[in-house]
Amino acid sequence: MDQTASVKNLEQWIEELDQFNQTPGNGTTRPVFTAEDMAARSYVHKLMESVGLEVKEDNAGNLFGVLPGEDPSLEPVWTGSHIDTVPNGGKYDGIAGVFAGIEALRMIKESGAPHKRSLSANVYSGEEMSRFGVCCIGSRAIAGRLHLEDLKSHSDPSGTSLYQALKDVGYDPDSFDEEFPCKTPVYASLELHIEQNDVLEKSNYPVGAVTGICAPTNMVVEVFGVQSHAGGTSMTARRDAYMAAAEISLLLERLALESDSMYITGTVGEMTLEPNAANVIPGHATFSVDIRSVTIEDKDALLEKFYSGIKEIEERRKVKVTTDMMNHDKAVICDEHIVELVRKGSADLGIPTMDIVSGPYHDSLMLGDITKVGITKVGMLFVPSKDGISHNKAEWTSIEDIAKGTDILANTLLKLANEA
Ligand code: GLV
Ligand code: MN
Ligand code: MN
Repeated sequence: MDQTASVKNLEQWIEELDQFNQTPGNGTTRPVFTAEDMAARSYVHKLMESVGLEVKEDNAGNLFGVLPGEDPSLEPVWTGSHIDTVPNGGKYDGIAGVFAGIEALRMIKESGAPHKRSLSANVYSGEEMSRFGVCCIGSRAIAGRLHLEDLKSHSDPSGTSLYQALKDVGYDPDSFDEEFPCKTPVYASLELHIEQNDVLEKSNYPVGAVTGICAPTNMVVEVFGVQSHAGGTSMTARRDAYMAAAEISLLLERLALESDSMYITGTVGEMTLEPNAANVIPGHATFSVDIRSVTIEDKDALLEKFYSGIKEIEERRKVKVTTDMMNHDKAVICDEHIVELVRKGSADLGIPTMDIVSGPYHDSLMLGDITKVGITKVGMLFVPSKDGISHNKAEWTSIEDIAKGTDILANTLLKLANEA
């Protein structure tokens, strides 16, 4: 292909999208299905049209910018990522992959290179779990792992259900179970994303070929103790919901540290106490648990010890603990053929790459669920994150590195789109 990625386009689109932000000056906050998210989608929709893509949308809010191929009967090739963010996050997580995808398709179109399969640059709804407690809303729906009844059971902190939120912004959640899983098989999917760790930077590689994607297990844990007076209740008489929650959190940390899997992580990122007053022993604690690893067996082994530890804490502290699992996802091993195409495509362009495993999850994790959607090949490529920082306003990736990744992405997508 005679085209190379335009640094100017990528920079301009990333900066312009950042105007749709609830916290200007303090990182980027764009929770899924808020006014800012909807305005950002409409920006991307117009951009897709302006580079000559045919835009489609589904009832999970996923956007598809399609560049038709010569043979519409062949399964298409996908790329894309997400535009929602965590609270006070950065402007590259997900966004870099969305614009890299659009730029790659623009390059392919403008080069006039023939391709048999259609190509689609996508935006998947709500990859971050921070609003509704469930991650990858759009890609999970595509994979048939999110149903109408789930939409009603997941709510944001204000009590708005995912079902209601979809309705409020104009989608038709009632059609969910007919529309999903996505009815059309996809030939291959390749997503560009920022690394969100410092492996590439430390090793001095501008691009990584992702070989596997760790998967999250998420739960909400509730501890029911007894609310009582901070001065009037002796240390031995109290049934403190927070102290039990703290002990469960430390148990999670210890189990993750003791695991012999190098990819396992355990995180408590959110906690609420009731009544949340300095001189009152909390009667109720609710907190999130996030466990990741590259195999489900690692997570199952940790979970078994976690549950039995919780039981012991529950009995000793005379509290009641409930755990509500939101998702227990399976890691994806990237398709060796795509990984090889990425390695080779980088070498052809003189861009050094290394193999890398993703600790964070991504939409590609859902798209790799071959059993339901029929996607046979999933791959990702990473570009470096400065100091490995992400989910933070200091998140930064050089546009030149995103452009290098986009060049590899475009060339690899073109090869995939011409495979028989
Ligand atoms: C995605 O943002 C993740 O938390 O891995
Ligand atoms: Mn993220
Ligand atoms: Mn992301």
